[in-house]
Amino acid sequence: MKKKDLLSLNDYSGKEIEALLNLSAAIKSELKAKKFRRPLKDKTIALIFEKPSLRTHATFETGIVQLGGHALYLPSSNIRIGVRETAEDIAKNLERWVDGIVIRTFSQKLIETLASNASIPVINALTDDAHPCQALATALTIKEHFKSFKGVKVAYVGDGNNVAASLFTICAKLGMDSVHIGPKGYELSKQYLADVTAAAKVSGSKFTYTKELAGVKGADLIYTDVWTSMGQEAESAKRLKAFKGYQVDSKLMALAGRGAKFSHCLPAHRGEEVSAEVIDGAASIAIDEAENRLHVQKAVLATLVK
Ligand code: CP
Ligand code: NVA
Repeated sequence: MKKKDLLSLNDYSGKEIEALLNLSAAIKSELKAKKFRRPLKDKTIALIFEKPSLRTHATFETGIVQLGGHALYLPSSNIRIGVRETAEDIAKNLERWVDGIVIRTFSQKLIETLASNASIPVINALTDDAHPCQALATALTIKEHFKSFKGVKVAYVGDGNNVAASLFTICAKLGMDSVHIGPKGYELSKQYLADVTAAAKVSGSKFTYTKELAGVKGADLIYTDVWTSMGQEAESAKRLKAFKGYQVDSKLMALAGRGAKFSHCLPAHRGEEVSAEVIDGAASIAIDEAENRLHVQKAVLATLVK
């Protein structure tokens, strides 16, 4: 059987995503009951992080151990992809020893190269283009809080970045309407815009973009992410200016309507993309989402690693 990677949610159907989410929910309730399934027994998963991480590193390593496997952390400063040796050579070596690769890096092309040169699954732990594991956690959290995806509307306020691209993709695949609210010049990439629009057509949902804050009206979930992502630090002053006025604060939450929840992939910058009273307030489900990173990634590993 051909191996499957998780490079982007574009490669997954709505049905496949729902199957991953159902497995995540099952794995989560087993863990709460102190029951463990061990599909990774005697298996090793390599973890490579070329950017900082708390949640992704902690949840992958913990999840691998809970599934009975071994997590092999490979410091990027040691293996130096593309400097000490090529991604192709790294893939061809790793596949002889380990059973899967989890990688956080800059370029989507790099993880595609690793995946096409390895017979083992490669899992995207964030690139400049996508953060599929985050979007799976958002979807599981939505399901828990709203019971169903049907009729749920998601408003994302801010940069059309990796987190936004994966969030809109999963909304479109699962049939949720979504809207992007942000300044001109920071929309989704052309490719993602086309992919999300096509996926929304298949599921019969809607994706729209507006620069107007009023776009949040009627949303059940307001989501945001940092204005300056990892690797964009040199643009931070320019971005602070561009996103001024797009902070998710109590006023914006009130505009969304009663019962709207708030989430964020974290780490958050209080006073920039979100006010402290919103992220630390009763409507915030960001920590529930962070917990769910563990459960969804275990489901991904249990499904992909053979
Ligand atoms: N949300 C997320 O991916 O967090 P880390 O960058 O800490 O892994
Ligand atoms: N967009 C952010 C997400 C961090 C989890 C970044 O890429 O830095």
